[in-house]
Amino acid sequence: MINSLRGMNDILSEDYARFTYFINTATDVAQKYGFHFIETPLLEETALFKRSVGESSDIVGKEMYQFTDKGENDVCLRPEGTAGVVRAFIQKKLDKAGGNHRFFYHGAMFRYERPQKGRLRQFHQFGVESFGQDSVYEDATMIMMTSDILKRLGIGYRLQLNSLGDNNCMPDYKTNLIKFVEACKDDICEDCVRRLDTNPIRVLDCKNDKCQSLYESAPKLLQNLCSTCNDDFEKLKKILTENGIDYEIDTNLVRGLDYYSKTAFEFVSDNIGSQSAIAGGGRYDRLVEFLDGRPTPAVGFAMGIERLMELIVMPEVSRDGYYIGAMDAEAVDLVVGLTHKKRATDKATCDFKTKNLQKHLKAADKVNAKFCAVIGSNELNNDTIWVKDLENKTEETITLKDF
Ligand code: HAM
Repeated sequence: MINSLRGMNDILSEDYARFTYFINTATDVAQKYGFHFIETPLLEETALFKRSVGESSDIVGKEMYQFTDKGENDVCLRPEGTAGVVRAFIQKKLDKAGGNHRFFYHGAMFRYERPQKGRLRQFHQFGVESFGQDSVYEDATMIMMTSDILKRLGIGYRLQLNSLGDNNCMPDYKTNLIKFVEACKDDICEDCVRRLDTNPIRVLDCKNDKCQSLYESAPKLLQNLCSTCNDDFEKLKKILTENGIDYEIDTNLVRGLDYYSKTAFEFVSDNIGSQSAIAGGGRYDRLVEFLDGRPTPAVGFAMGIERLMELIVMPEVSRDGYYIGAMDAEAVDLVVGLTHKKRATDKATCDFKTKNLQKHLKAADKVNAKFCAVIGSNELNNDTIWVKDLENKTEETITLKDF
């Protein structure tokens, strides 16, 4: 027997109902915020992710599904959605057009991580990217949108917030941090020693307890912001407070992708175990330029759909549509025809096999139909159909014309 690959799941039945409920809810919220759908390919040039997510990140360094295609191109399955959307934005020359461009997307992402609860190798994200707005109000809007989606789904969260500074203040901070970490180089983990050379600020979110206690006295990002970044961060906190969104400051929140500057945020849940991040995002003002576009400020976020599916409070599903069945072999053609006609306006299913009434009623209940309609020999002779309303428990025999 051939099974699916490790960390790659099928989505069907009850899970699929949750999946589509999530997509429909998030899409509705994104559209209410004025965002438009964008679809980008699952396969991109590997160079796109190396230049955006960053060669020093775990995602690019260790987790890419990368291969050479039949045309000798170095390609990989997308590990995240932002890079592809930025590529499309530049390719369609929207950077040159100016103005604001706001997109949302959803689809499969691929990361060769060690699978565990909440951590898959193929998973799905719902993401949002906004181009052309340098105002911190847009950062707040991203956070409000994430919060609105979670609230609509009945999901509680904690919001963690940080600022990573910009080109003005980050370089000095990095120099100070490197000085600090080099002084304790003999005591830190191997990963942090490597990060010192590749992306020093990533030491701050090292999961090793010993490293964490050593870094407690490290210079703090938030205490080293320039006045512009500091003012923006203060303003962001004020907007969130005024709009009823609680947050926690986490000065070690640096995110796992290299393209961020200024605002960085993560929504976490305390109800799904160790893989607790349910959404994450931030500002990435330099990425469009890195990918050869005209400098364009940008901010966005993405939500992990599989993790959210564990938490969604599903609304009660009410009975819907028709189940149509035949008790007599001669009525099957008629049942198929009636079902086909009903589908023009309603949900309708039918059974090609003849059964007794009890069995039809059971089958109608199983597909959660509102009406169970059955044709036996009596009905066939009189051009009628027996219909039971399974919600109100009423039944009647009506003419086929009325049906
Ligand atoms: P990210 O934090 O890497 O950000 O991923 C966003 C969300 O995807 C995470 O919070 C998590 O819920 C989910 N996720 C990530 N990896 C896995 C996995 N292996 N299994 C299951 N779920 C996972 C990004 O991808 C950025 N592109 C977000 C962004 C958009 N920033 C700006 N715009």
